[in-house]
Amino acid sequence: MPEKPRILTGDTPTGRLHLGHWVGSLERRVALQDQYDCYFLLANMHAFTTRFDKPADIRQDTLEIVKDWLAAGIDPQRSTIVLQTEVPAIAELTWFFAMLLSFNDVMGNPTLVHELETKGLKDSYSFGFPMYTVGQCADILAFRPTLVPVGEDQAPHIEMCRKAARKFNQLYGGVSNRANDDDHVAQGGVFPVPKALIGRVGRLPGVGDGSAKMSKSLNNAIFLSDAPKDVQKKINKITTGRQSPTEPGDPSNVLFKFVEAFIPDPARVAELKDRYARGDNLGDGHVKAEVADAINTLLEPMRARRAEFDSPAGDAHVLDIIKAGVKRANATAEETLYLAKKAMRLDFGRRTLA
Ligand code: TRP
Repeated sequence: MPEKPRILTGDTPTGRLHLGHWVGSLERRVALQDQYDCYFLLANMHAFTTRFDKPADIRQDTLEIVKDWLAAGIDPQRSTIVLQTEVPAIAELTWFFAMLLSFNDVMGNPTLVHELETKGLKDSYSFGFPMYTVGQCADILAFRPTLVPVGEDQAPHIEMCRKAARKFNQLYGGVSNRANDDDHVAQGGVFPVPKALIGRVGRLPGVGDGSAKMSKSLNNAIFLSDAPKDVQKKINKITTGRQSPTEPGDPSNVLFKFVEAFIPDPARVAELKDRYARGDNLGDGHVKAEVADAINTLLEPMRARRAEFDSPAGDAHVLDIIKAGVKRANATAEETLYLAKKAMRLDFGRRTLA
């Protein structure tokens, strides 16, 4: 049987996961587990780039993400959970890729630039902060995936990763500068040039006036683990400026971003849009109730599964899952590192991790 193609993607532990994570990438991951050999990375090293003074919080947030993943339907039997800090090949590959990417490419990465602005890091960020973008290339390439399912904001990172893969293969694998991305491995490259798979909803707004994207730090997020009444309360915080159910509304406003993202029946979505646009006696309150119901239907099975892990025994179980993942992850990443070092004439004997 041929090996399944691989996927790698991941999350930085910053707290519980929210609906933006779900529509941006998580729902895809759950769906692709059968067709792909999946690796899901806990980017706990990256959490230290801005929160190096909060190690206990990072540890807790890391466990929380695993619980959210399991609740969402990630199956640790089929998929491998990768704890970044226990996979040394990632840190080693980061060095190699740091030499292949230009300083200006890294510092000009639009997602990095945006983060420096919005996180108020302008003049105070650590040396390690921009380094995470190079680290992310290594996170991905250590597993030699063909596909990286991510939210829209991660696209520049995947582009950098593709650049690093091409350059490595050309320099050390004898791949032609004119090779198609899809031919790199056939031509002797160590790394497939992976493709980003952008989520169904590029950018989910937060609850509020819709100007900001959903984010924990902006206090506008609906978490996958929120209780039903909190979901309803938060949806009620959406503001459209519309005055009455008979006022013609804009069916592309923030409320309808939620309608489109979470009401599963396309015919119902079309009907709501039509009536809203015509001001056909359809109040925002009614639409909100329907959206909240749809979200709660989506989240109900997740809440039920999560309840199994919210206990000290649950924490122990999560730690066991992480340990098993580390073992599988290192088997793959060590193989990659060996192949990369061999290509770089750094093959001084193959090591095994204890
Ligand atoms: N930077 C990503 C985020 O904040 C997390 C991440 C780290 C990641 N390494 C990755 C995503 C590798 C995809 C692939 O969401």
